[in-house]
Amino acid sequence: MLSDRFGRTIDYLRLSVTDRCDLRCSYCIPKGFKGFEEPANWLSFNEIERVVAAFARLGTRRFRLTGGEPLLRRNLPALAASLSALPGVEDLSLSTNATQLAEHAHALHHAGVRRLNVSLDSLREDCVHDITGSHSLPKVLDGLRAAREAGFERIKINMVPIAGVNDADIEPMVAFCIENGLILRLIEAMPMGSTGQHTQGLNLQHTLAQLQQRFDLRPTCKTLGGGPARYWESADGGFTLGLITPMSQHFCATCNRVRLSVDGTLYMCLGQEERCELRPLLRDGCSDAELEAAIRSAIELKPEKHEFIAQPQRVVRFMSMTGG
Ligand code: GTP
Ligand code: 5AD
Ligand code: SF4
Repeated sequence: MLSDRFGRTIDYLRLSVTDRCDLRCSYCIPKGFKGFEEPANWLSFNEIERVVAAFARLGTRRFRLTGGEPLLRRNLPALAASLSALPGVEDLSLSTNATQLAEHAHALHHAGVRRLNVSLDSLREDCVHDITGSHSLPKVLDGLRAAREAGFERIKINMVPIAGVNDADIEPMVAFCIENGLILRLIEAMPMGSTGQHTQGLNLQHTLAQLQQRFDLRPTCKTLGGGPARYWESADGGFTLGLITPMSQHFCATCNRVRLSVDGTLYMCLGQEERCELRPLLRDGCSDAELEAAIRSAIELKPEKHEFIAQPQRVVRFMSMTGG
């Protein structure tokens, strides 16, 4: 089992398989951004598999495919199939913007992906366009339908409420999630890089108070994933709300995860710079034991917490580079 200096067990690895995305969400990536990683530096599927196998030998059980937009990486279902077949990989999940989910939902389910988190910030086309720079709503809705038909259950919607942009869309999103059996998660925007756009996230403590009253929500300790969300359920069980509150109430004391970016950098924290470059090791023909030792030493570097409030300009990489 991997554990860090603060006694936290690391049992969740997030794998960014590309830093590219077909959308330009205002809080994630600047318009006109060109600084993407060269293909020569992308970890190959074999290299990703080696890292996942090493983490699995070290006791990690949860793995999530992220991006950028992971479905832009060609043959992603093939990678998912090989990862889900590795001993120790118990939970393989995907975070996607769903614009291409309709085409891949069946193949992903067949490949062993069982849990899906889908980004969707509004049900109004113009608002989705304002946030993402694209008329992507119809494709996302098709993707969600296809995912349910393919057998995905308890799909989660990730919504980032931005003040004055989509805060009025929360209640319609609740209604949509109730109607379609989806879990709604609201996320506080974090200052990852400066995208140059208006991204003042809401303080969700206030939103919670309003929603709790309106929908008769009670806290639940059900485990609905490996991430930092806390959950509430309506009294009739028909609606589940998750809140991810890195700004108003951070969850670093129970952090259980690290992130591998597409170029093979292992990041110890979303909001800090500690990292370990695994690509040179992999390409120098390191042994499995050497790879495991490098991962163990990297975990020693894991910081106690982010500094988004005290030092909001500290992290200059965009969310799309590390994978939310
Ligand atoms: P589940 O297994 O379903 O719980 O997934 P998850 O919530 O870990 O995954 P997802 O990719 O949906 O992450 C949702 C968002 O939560 C991310 O984009 C981030 O905004 C936030 N988040 C996830 N992990 C961390 C973390 O370690 N630190 C911080 N500050 N935010 C995180
Ligand atoms: N702050 C919080 N969440 C973010 N995401 C992307 N950028 C940010 C940010 N700056 C979220 C997306 C997606 C998830 C993987 O990351 O909404 O659902
Ligand atoms: Fe973990 Fe860093 Fe996220 Fe805090 S901000 S939960 S320490 S990854």
